[in-house]
Amino acid sequence: MNDSLRNLNQGPLPPETAAATTAASPDRQNGSMIAVHGLVKTIGAQEILRGVDLDVGRGETLAIIGRSGGGKSVLLKHLIGLMRPDAGEIWIEGQNIIDMSERNLASIRQKVGILFQGSALFDSMTVAENIAFPLREAGERDPTVLRKRVSEMLEVMELQGQEEKMPVNLSGGMKKRVGLARSIIRQPSCILYDEPTSGLDPVVSDSINRLIRRLQQRLGVTGIVVTHDMKNAFHVADRIAYLHEGKIYFQGAPEELRQSPDHILQDFLLGRSDEQLTPKAFGVEN
Ligand SMILES: Nc1ncnc2c1ncn2[C@@H]1O[C@H](COP(=O)(O)OP(=O)(O)O)[C@@H](O)[C@H]1O
Ligand SMILES: [Mg+2]
Repeated sequence: MNDSLRNLNQGPLPPETAAATTAASPDRQNGSMIAVHGLVKTIGAQEILRGVDLDVGRGETLAIIGRSGGGKSVLLKHLIGLMRPDAGEIWIEGQNIIDMSERNLASIRQKVGILFQGSALFDSMTVAENIAFPLREAGERDPTVLRKRVSEMLEVMELQGQEEKMPVNLSGGMKKRVGLARSIIRQPSCILYDEPTSGLDPVVSDSINRLIRRLQQRLGVTGIVVTHDMKNAFHVADRIAYLHEGKIYFQGAPEELRQSPDHILQDFLLGRSDEQLTPKAFGVEN
């Protein structure tokens, strides 16, 4: 394991606000990690995505916000080819994945890891087996290698001693960390986080946010964090995109979003159009 990965849980904390991280933000001239053009998806009679355009720079963390049921998880599943769109393009590091074979998608999934909403651990597998799963799937069978890589992940996620536990016996925060270990064990250059802090108390949420920022700052990992928690979005993101009625209604700097006079954005930020958001949940001082 390289030293920066080992040190993920140590050292001074990165700055607490997204605004303060701007200086360390990646140079967007390096090109896009992910570019989405005109993505359309209808499920049954429901038009979920109606022409999504999105651009994620290499090394940046983009938060995607939007109301519950608005299509955020559906959008993420498209980005690793778990769902196929009706129309549109998805470029991952310059490769269009739309018509890719499962075999080629497997190599994309090595580059782009996903932390599923609710962690999606395998209930019948131990913590160690869950974490090792992507490596096994990639063909790694050597028990010594598997043990070593799993133990590195346990260390990074501060889960030492938990390896034989079953998911049912873990707290919500531990489940997220096991899920996160599983999504980074193949050292992806990009991670999609689906509601990484939902259902967690503020202290545990904060530790997950810190891990996300450290993966970005120390390893240069590109991140997409889907969340309906505005406070979370402002804490973790370099840029924020708002998915509204099947399209990206806004994407820009957190500060730009906060100061926008647009009433649709302000209604969402202040929880006037979403039962899940109250002014208190907004929680960011201007
Ligand atoms: N596999 C599926 N089959 C049918 N409907 C789905 C499926 N996945 C998502 N949906 C529907 O798509 C809409 C968007 O869902 P989702 O992306 O999970 O929303 P979000 O993550 O923003 O809360 C919802 O109405 C949901 O019921
Ligand atoms: Mg979702």
